[in-house]
Formats: sequence, structure tokens, C-alpha cells
Amino acid sequence: MSLADHLPLAGQRAIVTGANSGIGAAAAKGLAAAGAKVLINYVTAPEQAEAVAADILASGGTAMIFQADISREDQVQAMFAAIVQAWGSVDILVNNAGLQQDAALVDMTLAQWNTVINVNLTGQFLCAREATREFLRRGPQPLSSALGKIICMSSVHDVIPWAGHANYAASKGGVTLLMKTLAQELAHHKIRVNSIAPGAIKTPINLEARDTPEEVEALLALIPYGRVGEPEDIAKATVWLASDQSDYVTGATLYVDGGMTLYPGFDKGG
Ligand code: BGC
Repeated sequence: MSLADHLPLAGQRAIVTGANSGIGAAAAKGLAAAGAKVLINYVTAPEQAEAVAADILASGGTAMIFQADISREDQVQAMFAAIVQAWGSVDILVNNAGLQQDAALVDMTLAQWNTVINVNLTGQFLCAREATREFLRRGPQPLSSALGKIICMSSVHDVIPWAGHANYAASKGGVTLLMKTLAQELAHHKIRVNSIAPGAIKTPINLEARDTPEEVEALLALIPYGRVGEPEDIAKATVWLASDQSDYVTGATLYVDGGMTLYPGFDKGG
């Protein structure tokens, strides 16, 4: 028995969507460090996906990369076929891929609305459906108490309204009830479905909000814990939700946000 056999996710197989950058890249590395084999999904920038895979391989882990637009049914199905062919099945899905296309309501195009809903919400549906089909097809495994684990990347904007981001907030609010409904529907199969709701994390998605010291100060005013989050903060929560350490947790949203959802404006008065 090797040391790796004692890791919490030893032998398990994971798909992380949008794993070539930001939270997805950190989650992929975190899962690999916990012993999982990781399929790194990406849609653009293959060199970034390759770099994440190289990092995992250099640390003694196992990884493959796979290009698929998760808003496209055929591409999602091809991705699941690829992991089944390579590693026999899948145990963990991290529904991470997401994007923003911000605009004031009066300026928001239907294309901006549709792109964000298609990737952030429909993409999570398509991947969750294929993962569940595969969990049910292959049946129980000795690797985990659950038949399978699905982790949906939501956002604090599944509860905090966000002016100028109607498409994004609607997609994340949708993720919450998608997650809870799937958790309710699948619990009797021993499939656990949970969400992580990150606050402001240092990733490319919010670079513009962290451009200048003034902007960072304005952002920090929204974060009681006093720092912007690191992708690794989310990766650690992802590993926990994927492991048997959280075996009794399903249908939950874990806010990893330094207190952003604590209404910091009310810390005095009200
Ligand atoms: C958004 C970021 C934002 C954060 C906190 C995230 O879901 O993608 O752009 O910084 O929420 O507002």
C-alpha cells in the first residue's frame, strides 16, 4: 500500500469544468493533491489547461485535458465518454465553468443574456445529467460511501442581487435551486449534490474590480474578514465536499466569502 492510498480521494476520478484558470484550476490541483485523477475541461486557451495538467503530473498526480463547450450537449457527452474510456468511470463532478458578460439591463443584449445562462446554468444541468447517468450505470464503488458527488460552483450572487449583472445573478440563483432539486431527487441513490458560493476571489473574472488601490479598498469594504479570497480557499472546500468527510452533507450551499453575505453595511447601526 502506498502513501497515496491514504489520501481522501485516492483512486477517485473527477471532472472539473473550466479548469484551465482561476477557481477551476485550483480545484483541479486540490483534488489531484487529495489523490483524485482529474479531467481538466477547457474551451479556450489549451496551453493553460496543459499547464494545469503538467503541474499535477509534476506533483505525481494523474490528469488529462479535454476541450468541450459545456453549453453544448454533444460536447458534454463526448467529455463523459472520454473519461469513462480513459479511467472507467467518474466519481466527482465539479460544475465550475462560468463567465460574466456585464451590462446595465437597458443595454443588455439577448446574446449576453443567453451566453451567460447557457454556460453558467444550462452547462451545469448538462454535466450533472451526464454525471448522474454514469453514476447510476456503474453502480456503487468501494472508493466512497456515496455513489457520486456533484459540486456546483455558485456565487454570493445567488443571494446578493447585483446591479448591472442581471444575467449572472439570475444564472447563479438558478444554480442554487438546480442544485437543491437534484440533491432532493438523487439522495436516495446516494448521490450528493452541493454548491460552493465563492465571494470575491483573485481570479481573472474580477480583475477589473481589483485594478487600482481604490478599487481594492472598495472591494475590501464588502469583505468583513479583510482580505480578497484565494482560489485555494475554494479548492479546500471543494476537496471537503468531494470527500467522505462531508458524507452527511447534501443540498447545502457553502459560502466561502470572508463574510460577504453577512450584510457588512449593517455592522453599525440599522
Ligand atoms: C463574481 C466576481 C465578484 C464576486 C463578488 C463572483 O461571483 O464572479 O466578479 O467579484 O462574485 O462580488
